[in-house]
Amino acid sequence: MIEEAARLIARSRFLIAFTGAGISAESGIPTFRGKNGLWENYRIEEVATPQAFSRNPELVWDFYRMRMRKMMEAKPNRAHFALAELERMGLLKAVITQNIDDLHREAGNTVVELHGNIYRVKCSSCSYRENLKESGRLEEFIEEKALPRCPECGALLRPDVVWFGEPLPESEWRRAVSLAKKADVCLVIGTSAQVFPAAYIPMIVKDEGGRLVEVNPENTGITHLADVVLRGSAGDVMERLLEKVKSCLAEKC
Ligand code: OAD
Repeated sequence: MIEEAARLIARSRFLIAFTGAGISAESGIPTFRGKNGLWENYRIEEVATPQAFSRNPELVWDFYRMRMRKMMEAKPNRAHFALAELERMGLLKAVITQNIDDLHREAGNTVVELHGNIYRVKCSSCSYRENLKESGRLEEFIEEKALPRCPECGALLRPDVVWFGEPLPESEWRRAVSLAKKADVCLVIGTSAQVFPAAYIPMIVKDEGGRLVEVNPENTGITHLADVVLRGSAGDVMERLLEKVKSCLAEKC
């Protein structure tokens, strides 16, 4: 199977990747579903909806500050670096991710973030936005106990992430769909493919005649559509796959 995947990738014309929480599991960031998943310990309706934020912004901010802390400590792993190398080799064109942890960017990939970014905040009322990593305020922001307020209008700041019941950011979605339509091969890594519209991305690739290579230790909502399924952890599989792609290119497989 891994040889077949390597051949598809080495011969691809427009390779993209679609990723989810599983790719960051080996960086120490918990996934959402399944055993020990985040949604086992927190209720979506209490921490990840606009209604939750209106009802109890303290609880929502405690949750996101906790996640900021966790993600700040995380480093890209072998799977993120393998994708960055595939892009440097000219094969991979972009990573479309549901993750908000910034690890693909840190590893060096071109990234389309469908669900926002943990390091960005935006005003719940006006158009103010801030990237806390870039403004150098991240640590101070995380340690603050009070609810964060907009420096321009005084309304509450909120995380610039997509909550359940909210639309995806329009320009990111448009970019993702356009990449998916162009792709002849898509690596689908570490996602249960259960959350829509994001999970339409690999389906669009398939609809347009592209091939799917799934990397996941378990069956997912997309497994039945995958042309090649590579079972295992993202770090291990992606490291081996990258080596196979390189030898495939060297030997003109
Ligand atoms: P899930 O938690 O639903 O799925 C994680 C997937 O990663 C599962 O299929 C696991 O089998 C797989 N996995 C676990 N460990 C892995 C490893 N080491 N290597 C590879 N795969 C591994 O996460 P997502 O599919 O990303 O949305 O969830 C999608 C969206 O649901 C998230 O973006 C988030 C969530 O609620 C919002 O918050 C809007």
